[in-house]
Amino acid sequence: MTVPARSGAVGRTAGASGTAPTGVEDLADPAFWRQPPADRLAAFARLRELADPVWFTERPASRRKPARGFYALVKHADVVLASRSPKVFASSPGVTTPEPARWVRTLFGDSMVNLDGAEHARLRKIVSRAFTPRLLAEAERDIDRVAAQIVDELLADRPTDFVTAVATRLPLEIICNMMGVPERCRPEIVDRVNHASEYIGVDRGLKARLRVPGRGLRALARMQRMVAAIGRARRHSPGDDLISALVHADVAGQTLGSRQLGSFFSLLMVAGVETTRNAIAHGLSLLTEHPEQRALLVSDYERHADGAVEEIVRHSTPIIQFRRTVTTECTVGSRVLCPGDKVVLFYASANRDGTVFRDPDRFDITRSPNPHLGYGGGGPHFCLGAHLARVEMKALFRELLTRQVNLRAVGLPELAGSNFDNRVRSLQFAIGP
Ligand code: HEM
Repeated sequence: MTVPARSGAVGRTAGASGTAPTGVEDLADPAFWRQPPADRLAAFARLRELADPVWFTERPASRRKPARGFYALVKHADVVLASRSPKVFASSPGVTTPEPARWVRTLFGDSMVNLDGAEHARLRKIVSRAFTPRLLAEAERDIDRVAAQIVDELLADRPTDFVTAVATRLPLEIICNMMGVPERCRPEIVDRVNHASEYIGVDRGLKARLRVPGRGLRALARMQRMVAAIGRARRHSPGDDLISALVHADVAGQTLGSRQLGSFFSLLMVAGVETTRNAIAHGLSLLTEHPEQRALLVSDYERHADGAVEEIVRHSTPIIQFRRTVTTECTVGSRVLCPGDKVVLFYASANRDGTVFRDPDRFDITRSPNPHLGYGGGGPHFCLGAHLARVEMKALFRELLTRQVNLRAVGLPELAGSNFDNRVRSLQFAIGP
């Protein structure tokens, strides 16, 4: 539990108090994230047994930079409390690691995930207004149509990688349709999303570290220019799409400028496509691994689909962690946290917390209630696209599972080994007997 610290409480000396006891793996070591998922989950289970959050020291990015680190929040209750106390656990200066550089934020605009208070609320209000029930209802009709088309093409073409052929396509096509992005721009957007995600949370070799940022930023700048051009066109002649709604949404006399439009677009592309495609790929894998759950789902799809989609997100937890920065002295358990301390909210661990979920490692599509934190722990940053993601998954699995073609995963998904998201690089699949 988090409460304001008692006056006179002793502050933390970074890396000294709360350091991981023997027998608990180092969450700050990139090698930890390359281990099989079951080993990582076992380490989280050991951490949840401890009364207080543990501190992990990170390797500095270069010898000139000081070592940094974070407290790991691994219990369901702690992740919920930190998510819902944004004045104490701020999203600024950034929820990912490394934090976006100041010049990148100035040049490309700040992403709402990294903002707090009134600044965040203003942006969120503009973009939520654009997600009107009418736009979402239209998107739902579109989702059914696109899901059917993807599966038709899959059965005709018989590709081998499920991630490229299916899991990426649905969320990408839907966001692009909602935004009104022309077909000709979409291949470049897929490249950009793949590129942006490839290195998030993954330990990179020195060569890649030196080489990639320039190209990545050029690609980002190209995408921003493309969206700005679409935004300009829609300002003059609005269409029935999200970009038109965003450039015309007026909250307290303010609309989204081109840089803000660009950064929101990049956020939607990465937050909306990467997460949903991973959930879909893990979903196929889980339903293949658990034939009895799949049989139950198919026996009455409309009855069990909502439960299955929630359980897929809980069990696979597509976003493993988000960070926060402590603004005011506070305590978690008996640990005193000081302003400036980083905490990491491990959704992947909270979703296996045995004090909340019975038999937490079991994949059970009938689990009820299922208060998982796959879309965040509540509070002002709760996932803006949760409804959309649910509708997309439900529509796609309906097409994949109820056509009686026995579509199934072959082997295990190839994982990226990222500490940020449970990313699937590829998943082989088969159709037929
Ligand atoms: C299975 C799919 C998805 C998962 C697991 C997921 C997960 C998350 C998580 C964990 C957060 C952080 C919540 C917090 O800090 O409290 C988040 C935020 C966000 N998500 Fe999602 N997401 C998914 C799909 C989507 C989709 C489809 C979209 C958009 C079309 C989207 C847009 C966003 C945005 C804009 C935010 C930032 C909200 C803010 O800072 O106010 N997400 N999501």
